[in-house]
Amino acid sequence: MPLARLAVLVSGSGSNLQALIEQIHRPGKGQICLVLSDKPKAYGLVRARQAGIPNEAFDAKDYIDRQAFNQALLARVQSASVDFIVLAGYLKILTPDWIRVYPKRIINIHPSLIPKHCGKGFYGLKVHQSVLESGDKQTGVTIHYVDEGADTGPILASQTVSVLPNDTPESLQKRVLEIEHQLLPQVVEQLCWQYNHQERAEDI
Ligand code: GRF
Repeated sequence: MPLARLAVLVSGSGSNLQALIEQIHRPGKGQICLVLSDKPKAYGLVRARQAGIPNEAFDAKDYIDRQAFNQALLARVQSASVDFIVLAGYLKILTPDWIRVYPKRIINIHPSLIPKHCGKGFYGLKVHQSVLESGDKQTGVTIHYVDEGADTGPILASQTVSVLPNDTPESLQKRVLEIEHQLLPQVVEQLCWQYNHQERAEDI
């Protein structure tokens, strides 16, 4: 029975990728076949290398425009014959081609309770800064299907995290990341399980 094949896109440290490597990348669950980044120095590429996972950086400066850059990444993902794509701290907005080629097959994780504190420009510590400035008593993690917008696709899962009186953006980010590292593998495991157990013509 073919295992679900995953591509993971990162732009930064890749701690969510690391959680997937440790909890999903194993027989019977799923296979991370490819890690791509738009940042050649992203530590997530080092994590992929350490796990023996094929990885590649694509630098937007090498392409004439956003469309050409996205076409290059998309072609590389397609060449790996993956079933799902996980945006794990990938900071660029995908072009519509991605959604056309992989409808309901691309998921993103965002460190707030969408639709609050999300969208263009809301990434990293800025998200948690916004939560603290708003006076919200709760924040959390949201995992959703990716559509043409920024953090706007159908929600798959979310989990709340309490905001503490003396929280700083850094302390809040740390607690939210701990939940991310549990929720993302749980959601990806469910998607892989469904894929791995779906009826296939060749199995009948
Ligand atoms: C995470 O908070 C994720 O929710 C957001 O970007 C951050 C990436 O962190 N999209 P890492 O690269 O997985 O450590």
